[in-house]
Amino acid sequence: MPQDSFVVGLDIGTTKVCAIIGEKNRDGEIEIIGVGDQPSTGLHRGMVVNVADTVKSIKKAIEEAQLMAGVEVHSVYVGIAGKHIKSINSPGVIAISNETREINIKDVDRVIEAATSISLSGEKEREIIHVIPQEFYVDGQDSIQDPVGMSGVRLEADVHLVTADVSATQNIVKSVHQAGYDVEDIVLDPLASSYAVLDNDEKELGVCLVDIGGGTRDISLFHSGSVYDSKVIALGGEHVTQDVMKGLRTSSQDAEKVKIDHGCAIIDMVPEDETIEVPSVGGREPRTIPRRHLCEIIQPRMEEIFKFIDYEIKQSDYRDEIIAGMVVTGGASGMRGVPELAEQIVDMPVRLGKPWGISGLIEAVSNPKYATGVGLVQYGFEQLEGEHQYSNLSSGGHITDIIRKRMKSWFDDMKSLLSG
Ligand SMILES: Nc1ncnc2c1ncn2[C@@H]1O[C@H](COP(=O)(O)OP(=O)(O)OP(=O)(O)O)[C@@H](O)[C@H]1O
Ligand SMILES: [Mg+2]
Repeated sequence: MPQDSFVVGLDIGTTKVCAIIGEKNRDGEIEIIGVGDQPSTGLHRGMVVNVADTVKSIKKAIEEAQLMAGVEVHSVYVGIAGKHIKSINSPGVIAISNETREINIKDVDRVIEAATSISLSGEKEREIIHVIPQEFYVDGQDSIQDPVGMSGVRLEADVHLVTADVSATQNIVKSVHQAGYDVEDIVLDPLASSYAVLDNDEKELGVCLVDIGGGTRDISLFHSGSVYDSKVIALGGEHVTQDVMKGLRTSSQDAEKVKIDHGCAIIDMVPEDETIEVPSVGGREPRTIPRRHLCEIIQPRMEEIFKFIDYEIKQSDYRDEIIAGMVVTGGASGMRGVPELAEQIVDMPVRLGKPWGISGLIEAVSNPKYATGVGLVQYGFEQLEGEHQYSNLSSGGHITDIIRKRMKSWFDDMKSLLSG
């Protein structure tokens, strides 16, 4: 099967590297045909710290997925996260100087470029990974989604810019190249996840997406169909495991297993008389403890995580725009009681976000930890088909293409540097 008939999403996470292969079926639906999930040992808090280990995990994950799908993978859409990610909303303004004063796509490119260049001056060690137009103004008139064809003398734009540290990005690209694959595009993890778990009405109304992984948690705010805020914070489910390890005096592997099998974010959801068995260390006998003891360790940490998220949301200029509530995704949100606990703290409706809008191996990817991987596949198809969900322009996300092409030539340069 030629690679242009399927898309591969590669989520290089702190705890797992997962490769997901999707193809379009006759009804135009994305069908998941291959899934590879391997432990990740080369990352710390969302960033590559050991290229060789990361390469091994990537190879294994892709081999597993391509075996399942019966295809040969050449290139991937890869996710990026880590606390080096910065995002800002940036304004741009230009004069429309042509005789008719009718705004064309070149003017739109110019105003977006104006917004982009102002914000990046003096930031040489950063690479723009996303430019997402939010709103345009023509001669001061706001809320314009697509200014092409309108008349005016002054065009303004607000854009959401996501930038990443060059070295951190290079380490991801290098790991994928050394595993033997090309990078089609680099996508911010929460942006990818949003494709898999949010619906268009939520994005239009205003929604907060929270992805709690192993080493990071990402918060992003969407409204009017676009991204207005995105943040990556280096704290995730691994911290809950560490608390369980210390609190129950057990190994990290056993703490992880006990947490996943018996953890609950709300103590009162667990019957008082329920007990669990916890392995000990140093050859001691396993112990039987009330399950509530485990939850007494977990609940305060989960509360802390959501109090912090609540604080971050309140800091945002867009707090009042979140009408549809919060969607929690990522592996750590799979614990029982997480949406209920979050709802008590953030004071808005909260639901769990599992990947949807797909067919094929749905069961294999229905866990919230696959939101980024599945979202990368959906993002990839959108790029291939030239539609841009987060570009309000009906005339095509031209500037998104410019950024993509620039990134692609950067990936190619890096590849030739590596092989040369
Ligand atoms: N059922 C569950 N209950 C509690 N925690 C869970 C459950 N399933 C997964 N987790 C936790 O989710 C975390 C992994 O989530 P995920 O796979 O989304 O992270 P990642 O993508 O590898 O990491 P990151 O995105 O932070 O780089 C681990 O800490 C794991 O313990
Ligand atoms: Mg992740």
